[in-house]
Amino acid sequence: MSNKQTKWLPIPSVAEGMGNLEQAAAILRKGGLVAIPTETVYGLAADATNPQAVTSIFEAKGRPQDNPLIVHIHDIQALSGPSREIPESALLLARHFWPGPLTMILPKADCIPSVTSAGLDTVAIRLPSHPIARALIRQAGIPLAAPSANRSGSPSPTTALHCLHDLEGRVDAIIDGGPCQVGVESTVISLVGKPRLLRPGAITAEKIRSLLPDLEIDPAVVQQPPPDAQVASPGMKYKHYAPHCPVFLVDGPVEAFPNWVNAQAAQEPGIFALCSDEDLPLLHCPALSLGPLADGKAQASHLFGVLRELDEKGAKKAYARCPRQEGIGLALYNRLIRAAAFHIIKI
Ligand code: TXA
Ligand code: MG
Repeated sequence: MSNKQTKWLPIPSVAEGMGNLEQAAAILRKGGLVAIPTETVYGLAADATNPQAVTSIFEAKGRPQDNPLIVHIHDIQALSGPSREIPESALLLARHFWPGPLTMILPKADCIPSVTSAGLDTVAIRLPSHPIARALIRQAGIPLAAPSANRSGSPSPTTALHCLHDLEGRVDAIIDGGPCQVGVESTVISLVGKPRLLRPGAITAEKIRSLLPDLEIDPAVVQQPPPDAQVASPGMKYKHYAPHCPVFLVDGPVEAFPNWVNAQAAQEPGIFALCSDEDLPLLHCPALSLGPLADGKAQASHLFGVLRELDEKGAKKAYARCPRQEGIGLALYNRLIRAAAFHIIKI
């Protein structure tokens, strides 16, 4: 492991952070690593066109080499840099949802080295809406490869402190831009061939279908791919987002969850409930709420912080209320079943 002096760069807003923004841009131009805020989660950024810089992202995260990275750009015109062919469907989605939490898989241009795309001839591209991320990409003058800024396998970081916890000494700088608003990673959709949803996010399948009615949902979004399967998005085959304590998803009628967990707590000391605000007064065991039951956005924004809190609080095991698989709930479900290593208890 490298032993870098990690700089802490507070950038409360683009206007207030000009000096630190230029420092971060200079580090990136020289091939360094900077953890940056985006509207979804913090990203671990490096020059997407520099193979050595990109290799150091994989090393810092402990990420498997066959898991490709997303290339971040700062405006729609820049789409023609990393991509060699832009279908009409990509322009349609870009006009509606960019800047924002949507990543599109397109044919890769030669300026993106194969280490960035993990040897694939496609590339994932995203135009984030976070003002600091966009200003930094513009200032650096290069597209930025950026996976989530966590150690591979652990919950994605939604604050600069989460990045420091996972990556201190492994990155050149961390920009503190405050907590991320969306809280789950971008929606990933492949536009090579038929449109296919590979990872659900805040830009929901329903919203994309209103523009591309033939959108398919990859089976790996909600199911465990078989061990030897060729998955469309390599990231989907890895265990993900997991705290150290085992997590189980509990699926059943809405009102049954607190009673079921209370009965379980009577037999199993040290368990935690991952629940909604409405459950809190009904539960007799330690519990962490994601937010109001009907507020999927709030729940998404708290998810990764709460998964990290389970470990901080020394939970032995967690039982999580199973989200409904619609709207942003599909993104919650997709992250939670991976955190739970696909263990679902039907009640
Ligand atoms: O919100 C986000 O997307 C965050 C922020 C930092 O932008 N980034 C992020 O990156 O979540 P990462 O590396 O944690 O997830 C990227 C996902 C992985 O599942 C990867 O396998 C998939 O996108 N992916 C990247 N390039 C791909 C490609 N060419 N084909 C299929 N899947 C791809
Ligand atoms: Mg990730």
